[in-house]
Amino acid sequence: MDDPTPADVPVSAGSGFPPRRDLTDGVVLLRSPRRADGPAIVAGATDPEVVRYTVVPSPYGDEDLDKILQIADEGWSAATDAVFAVCDAARPDELLGLIGLHGVEMGLEPGGRAEVGYWMRPEGRGRGLMTRAVVLATSWAVHELDLAVVTWYAFVGNDASRRVAEKAGYTLEGTLRRGAKHRGRLVDSWVGSIVAEDLRG
Ligand SMILES: CC(C)(COP(=O)(O)OP(=O)(O)OC[C@H]1O[C@@H](n2cnc3c(N)ncnc32)[C@H](O)[C@@H]1OP(=O)(O)O)[C@@H](O)C(=O)NCCC(=O)NCCS
Repeated sequence: MDDPTPADVPVSAGSGFPPRRDLTDGVVLLRSPRRADGPAIVAGATDPEVVRYTVVPSPYGDEDLDKILQIADEGWSAATDAVFAVCDAARPDELLGLIGLHGVEMGLEPGGRAEVGYWMRPEGRGRGLMTRAVVLATSWAVHELDLAVVTWYAFVGNDASRRVAEKAGYTLEGTLRRGAKHRGRLVDSWVGSIVAEDLRG
């Protein structure tokens, strides 16, 4: 579908993200990524499961680290990307994972849209932290960015990611045959979503 013409754009369009703040439920903490997180980000980005199931660059160089920190910073200002470090709330300085809302479009009718993506370092897995992070980030996006829908994609067979998305309230919509590009290959992709009504009841 074509992008709306200016006359179609609701008056709220163009409003940016709210000021950055930490999000927490007391167990997991989402905060702004920072330069000191560099070694932890590189460790996560080069983990074999992250390489297998995401489009994070591989091999992962200094320029890739610079780029994700730049996206975290400039994407917030441009209201296109909201990237958070995922931490145990008891150890807020230790980045265990990353979660991002990407391709954010605000001001649509009946609300905006975005795509969620995430990875967790092995030492953080299996504790329910990413599920909590997805719940927090999605709720923040729906309520504070006024998104109408957040979409999730995963390569078919990524059962851990699917379990996280479904536990966080996303509904599996189906399979896109050859729906994703992974390191030069077309692979089948699951797609799921959560809509604002799912959260508002
Ligand atoms: C997906 C990922 C973020 C999950 O992080 P996490 O912190 O372990 O997530 P949680 O602990 O909140 O929940 C994981 C759930 O998946 C389940 N799980 C883990 N591995 C699984 C597998 N191979 N098959 C099925 N379920 C699996 C866990 O048992 C748990 O479910 P449960 O609470 O019902 O027991 C992490 O495994 C990861 O980083 N993977 C590589 C990168 C990736 O796939 N990112 C997503 C791309 S779409």
